[in-house]
Amino acid sequence: MTKRIYTAGVYAERDMMLTLRRRDRIAEGVLQLEFVRSDGGPMPPWEPGAHIEIDVADIGIRHYSLIGDPKDREKWQIAVRLTGDDEAQASLYLHRESGIGDEFHVIAPRNNFNFASPTEGQRLHFIAGGIGITPLLSMIDSADASGVDWSLTYLGRTLESMPFRERLAQFGDRVQFVPSAARPEELLESLLAQAPAEARVYTCGPETLIDEVADISTRRGLTHRSELFAYSGGNGLREDDTPFELVCASSSLTVPVGESETIIEALGRHGIRARTSCQMGVCGTCETRVVDGVPDHRDSLLSEEEKKRGESMMICVGRALSDTLVVDL
Ligand code: FES
Repeated sequence: MTKRIYTAGVYAERDMMLTLRRRDRIAEGVLQLEFVRSDGGPMPPWEPGAHIEIDVADIGIRHYSLIGDPKDREKWQIAVRLTGDDEAQASLYLHRESGIGDEFHVIAPRNNFNFASPTEGQRLHFIAGGIGITPLLSMIDSADASGVDWSLTYLGRTLESMPFRERLAQFGDRVQFVPSAARPEELLESLLAQAPAEARVYTCGPETLIDEVADISTRRGLTHRSELFAYSGGNGLREDDTPFELVCASSSLTVPVGESETIIEALGRHGIRARTSCQMGVCGTCETRVVDGVPDHRDSLLSEEEKKRGESMMICVGRALSDTLVVDL
């Protein structure tokens, strides 16, 4: 039988149980969910752009951006679109099966999409595609409160399928709703052509949108940050990879990791299911403390400095540069 484990050590205190307190349909195919702590305590603090990780029934861990006010320590809110891709099972469960009073295992906020406090005179462009609007909402509130010049271009399939239209309408002509854009690349090109050199561009949505905005921003020398709402990529394996030994410090289990398998797959062979989500080194769910040995980092999350320190690693794609790697599992 497969044993499910949750990363021990520094990350364990980020785990908590939340109770679903409210569910509202806010747009075509979009449900807003509100959670409070099951133990009645205050919610941990978070920064604009942060997301939580929810263990959805037996389906797996999924990431959802927080959409409320970061200063609100009583509740957290997320929005879930009913999707047709591999996220479908989780979104289907939350839309059709979840009910008020249900408890969920949740990992406290992580921020892979940091919002740098805007400086005076800076211009910010927010570009959202569909449900990709969610991490931008708290950034927009923060930008507006700081008094900088900002604008949002919000693309969607239809107006009815685009949530938060009322909330965003208060900002008047700073917000441009673009349902069913025939040629979004032309729209983005002309939008960013007007951006001054010091402008920052924040984008969230599907990969095609992110790629398009990244390409235009790079050509124009603009600072660009993004968060993907659909992952694509590999598991980090390379042809010249070599085997190594993984030692799980908490259980004293030693697991040989072959040259053509990931740490997650090797653990699975030994009946251990580690906590993962994207399995591509981009979400941070599997971050695990390194106790001894030299990790071979292959994720897109840790900074160069963090990688050099080697204190933690993403075990879904990371390997070992030493013969043995001891991790906090
Ligand atoms: S599971 Fe997402 S980084 Fe490893």
